[in-house]
Amino acid sequence: MARVTAGVFSSHVPAIGAAMDNGRTTDPYWQPLFAGFDFSRRWIESNRPDVVLLVFNDHATAFSLDMIPTFAIGCAERFEPADEGWGPRQVPPVMGHPELAAHIAQSVILDEFDLTIVNKMDVDHGLTVPLSLMFGQPRAWPCQVIPFAVNVVQYPPPTGHRCWRLGAALRRAIESFDQDLNVQVWGTGGMSHQLQGPRAGLINKVFDNRFLDRLVDDAEGLSRIPHIEYIREAGSEGIELVMWLIARGALDDQVRQAHRFYHVPASNTAVGHLILENGGK
Ligand code: DHB
Ligand code: FE
Repeated sequence: MARVTAGVFSSHVPAIGAAMDNGRTTDPYWQPLFAGFDFSRRWIESNRPDVVLLVFNDHATAFSLDMIPTFAIGCAERFEPADEGWGPRQVPPVMGHPELAAHIAQSVILDEFDLTIVNKMDVDHGLTVPLSLMFGQPRAWPCQVIPFAVNVVQYPPPTGHRCWRLGAALRRAIESFDQDLNVQVWGTGGMSHQLQGPRAGLINKVFDNRFLDRLVDDAEGLSRIPHIEYIREAGSEGIELVMWLIARGALDDQVRQAHRFYHVPASNTAVGHLILENGGK
C-alpha cells in the first residue's frame, strides 16, 4: 500500500525561483536563505519520495479570477511551468500521477470533501519554487508530483480547521491506494507577509515562530485560528499558512522534527521551513 512518510513545509516566494534561475544563490542577500535548505537537500536524497502531493495556491495564473475552486486536484500526466509575465521558468515539466490522483479524488469526495478535478493546468511559483528549494536544478524532477491547489486568493478561503481535517482525509485516501509508494505531503506558502495596502511589508516573527512551534506539537489547536487573526497578525497574504495545516493533517499526531529553519526577509516574505517525519502509527 502507499504510505505517507513525511511532510515538508516551505514558503514559495517567486524571487527565490528567480535567484536560482539567474545564478544568484551565493549573493550576500540570498546565501543565508539557501543555506537553510542545505540540510533539506541531503535529507531528501536519503528520503526520496515516489510521489509528492504538493499543496499550493495558484496566484490567479491557471484559474484567473473568472473561476476559483476552493480545493482542486491535478489529475493530469504532466503540468507545464506557467508564464507569470516573464516567460515560464526554465525548470522541468512536472510529471503527475494520474492513477493516484484519481484515486484520491474519488476517496476524498466520497469522504465528503468536495474537490475540483483539474485535467489541464500550468503551475506557477507556488508549486515550482518549493520543488527548486528541495531538489535544486535537476534536468528532471526526481519524483512524480500531484498538484493540490487551494484558494487563498479570493475571500472566503477555507478555514484552518477544514484544511486540517482535509489533510486527514487525504491521508486515508493515499493509504488506501494499492501500490507500494512512498508519498510525502508538502504544504507551501506563507509565512507572514502582506503585498498590498498601507501595511505592505508586514512581517511578524513572533507569530511565525509560534505557528512553527504549534504546527509540530499542537496542530489541532492551531487549526482553530480564525481568518481575522491571520490577517491581523500575519498580513493579508499570511492566510497562505492554512495550506500548511492540510499537509500537517496528513501526518501522525506525534511527528519527528527533522529540520526547522526561519529567515527574514526574502522579498517581502518571512520564509519558514519544516521537515516532519511520521514515526509510524
Ligand atoms: C511574494 C510572496 C508570495 O507568497 C507571493 O505569492 C508573491 C510574492 C513576495 O514576497 O514577493
Ligand atoms: Fe504566494
